[in-house]
Amino acid sequence: MQRVFGFESSCDETGVALVEVDGDQPPRLVAQALHSQISMHQAYGGVVPELASRDHVRRVLPLTREVLSQAGLALHDVNLVAYTQGPGLAGALLVGAGVAVSLAAALDVPALPIHHLEGHLLSPFLSVDPPQFPFVALLVSGGHTQLMRVDDMGRYEILGETIDDAAGEAFDKSAKLLGLPYPGGPHLARMAEFGNPEAFELPRPLLHSGKPDFSFAGLKTAVLTQVKKIGESPCEQTKADLAASTQAAIVDVLVKKSLLALKETGLKRLVVAGGVGANARLREQLNAVCAKRGVRVHYPELSLCTDNGAMIAMAAALRLQRGMARPRQDGGFEVRPR
Ligand code: KG4
Ligand code: ZN
Repeated sequence: MQRVFGFESSCDETGVALVEVDGDQPPRLVAQALHSQISMHQAYGGVVPELASRDHVRRVLPLTREVLSQAGLALHDVNLVAYTQGPGLAGALLVGAGVAVSLAAALDVPALPIHHLEGHLLSPFLSVDPPQFPFVALLVSGGHTQLMRVDDMGRYEILGETIDDAAGEAFDKSAKLLGLPYPGGPHLARMAEFGNPEAFELPRPLLHSGKPDFSFAGLKTAVLTQVKKIGESPCEQTKADLAASTQAAIVDVLVKKSLLALKETGLKRLVVAGGVGANARLREQLNAVCAKRGVRVHYPELSLCTDNGAMIAMAAALRLQRGMARPRQDGGFEVRPR
């Protein structure tokens, strides 16, 4: 039995988790703890990097203790310490990496850097019914929007990605224009529940490009134009209609491009990961079109769509199982913000 600790600190969540690996069995999440800084950054309308780093410093060791106590284990029971190497905020990443590498050194066990997006990508492996390779992955977070062909651990081919804003950014920026708090995605989605998605005509950039690529910058401009049109104090229904129309435009593009990637690759499995993967309309529509085509869709649990330590520990555990956990030999570490 091997135990893997995972640390996530790339942005505004401090996540720590413990995953157990028993031979070829699917790795098992034993315990996890998460602290979200959202309320701290909300006053500034977005993440303030310096504040983020300082808060990670405050939270990371108490969360580590919490995970050990939940698991009923001690530090010396840990065999591998994984951490998010990037992409993310440099100062924030350094906190998790510094703690992870120091812990590993003290315990005389390897420290393993993990790519944040690999963590998201493999987060559905934390669910009771994990996907099997190969699959198409739709990775939709605040910083990334990509379609990938995933043949196996570490064998990732980018089929298409956004040429400007990420899908999460499109949600967040549109929500801000509607006067909603940061991060706007979930707020906009909630507001959209009461709106008419056809009330406003908004562009679906690159919808017919014939390639699995994305562009969301134009949508944000179109939303701004509509916000100006409806004036300073629109009624709640009008705002809800605009929120619903914005969400529909983003989701339409994500669904169409996912189908294109599935068709291009001939694969019958789709994995959706990243914060926007929590969006209910996206899930409904993907489920509907994929069911018609005999495509199985896998999502992470709702609580594991956004950043967390469990996905980092899981990615490390899957690497460990396949003999792919190659730590640096010199004991040093670096973070890769980009
Ligand atoms: O994966 P994540 O936690 O962070 C990054 O790695 O970027 O994703 C955060 C993004 C934010 O843009 C947030 O607004 C969006 O995911 N998000 C949502 C929903 N929940 C989170 N967007 C739309 N609908 C949601 N329900
Ligand atoms: Zn993320």
